Amino acid sequence: MITEKSKEMMVKSFQKTVYRYEKVPDVVIKGSFGVYLHVPFCFSKCSFCPFYKEIYNEKKKEQYISAIIKEIEDRGLKGEATWLYIGGGTPNTLKIPELKKIINKIHENITVSTMGIELLPSILDEKYLEGLHDIGFTKISVGVESLSAVTLSKSGRTVTKKEKIGKIIEKAQELGLWVNVDLMIGLPEQRPSSFLHDIEQISLLNPNQITIYPFMQIGELAVQPSLSDEDQFVFIEQANEIMMKHGYSRKGIWIFAKGEEVYDSSRDELVEDYFGFGPAAFSTYGSWKVVNPELDIYLQNFETNKKKALVALKDKSSDDWRKFARMLYDLKGTIDGEVNCGIKFFVSVLKLMGYIKNNTMSKKGIMFTHKITKTVVETLPYPLQNTHYVENYEEYLENK
Ligand SMILES: C[S@@+](CC[C@H](N)C(=O)[O-])C[C@H]1O[C@@H](n2cnc3c(N)ncnc32)[C@H](O)[C@@H]1O
Repeated sequence: MITEKSKEMMVKSFQKTVYRYEKVPDVVIKGSFGVYLHVPFCFSKCSFCPFYKEIYNEKKKEQYISAIIKEIEDRGLKGEATWLYIGGGTPNTLKIPELKKIINKIHENITVSTMGIELLPSILDEKYLEGLHDIGFTKISVGVESLSAVTLSKSGRTVTKKEKIGKIIEKAQELGLWVNVDLMIGLPEQRPSSFLHDIEQISLLNPNQITIYPFMQIGELAVQPSLSDEDQFVFIEQANEIMMKHGYSRKGIWIFAKGEEVYDSSRDELVEDYFGFGPAAFSTYGSWKVVNPELDIYLQNFETNKKKALVALKDKSSDDWRKFARMLYDLKGTIDGEVNCGIKFFVSVLKLMGYIKNNTMSKKGIMFTHKITKTVVETLPYPLQNTHYVENYEEYLENK
């Protein structure tokens, strides 16, 4: 009941968002900020993946590099960023000198304390890791998803053998890189026993962090999860028991790490303003939410010097909901900073119902958080996928 009510409240707050295709608002910096770079290319598409991506094409990649460098110049962002993440798509479709060129452009006006990048293990080697280290990356996130060739082949993805993943982790840590491994539960035809076996095997390889994503039905994915929300939760909890035996502790709803540090771009994006570069990249700053156009329009805008994107005015309560989401994400029972009365009341109801005890989430609260975080991610108004959120979509389409 409370889960339903809170889902309804959060979803309603997003659904008020209306985007317009228009000039990108000028940079506004209030306090600390992050930087996100989107690399949209993949060598093949995984059927479970809802993120914005395009099949790799050499010519488009060249154009993309010129366009993103120009976008960074045009945006005129200056100062000290708390984090920089490169996500995708598949960021390691770019060669080391290409990544370096983009990062050098960032560094002309922006200093960054931590730099992280998502990597596809099947195309990763030691030389590439050395290159990342030389550029100044400090964290890597490796998308393993599953160690089962059968499971991954159902989703059109090539498996990477455990031995190779072990070598990647070892080499990266030797270089001083901090390593996260992504695994998924609920993939089409994935057997829970095989998932739990993966958890054991990956824990033995000793990455600094393991993230378990429940398979989320975002947008119009053609494939269905093999497990319900509840069953995904049950197996994440069993995985937690296994990881605890290997020295991991829970840092967030789906995050397990050794030590205090975490790699989690979505968590960082909940509390700070951030500026996204590249096709389909998101930004949140000042009073705005901005979503860049998809690759073809992004490249065309670069040719015609049009600085347009999908722009929405942030709803008044949206930052408060972000703070609430961050509290849940961290499994805490108090919110950092001021929020509106509605949300404060809501937190006290969670306490009364036993979801929050001694300022942390109880077992019941963790289950609630799993469900609500999943629903929120599944219903976020991504305007490129839900075009009814874009008021003047025809105008955007004219560029296609
Ligand atoms: C942008 S994606 C993939 C990055 C890179 N292309 C790769 O394949 O390794 C980052 C992570 O999101 C997670 N992910 C992808 N699709 C998902 C879905 N439908 N539900 C939940 N998590 C998902 C995966 O764990 C993946 O590693």
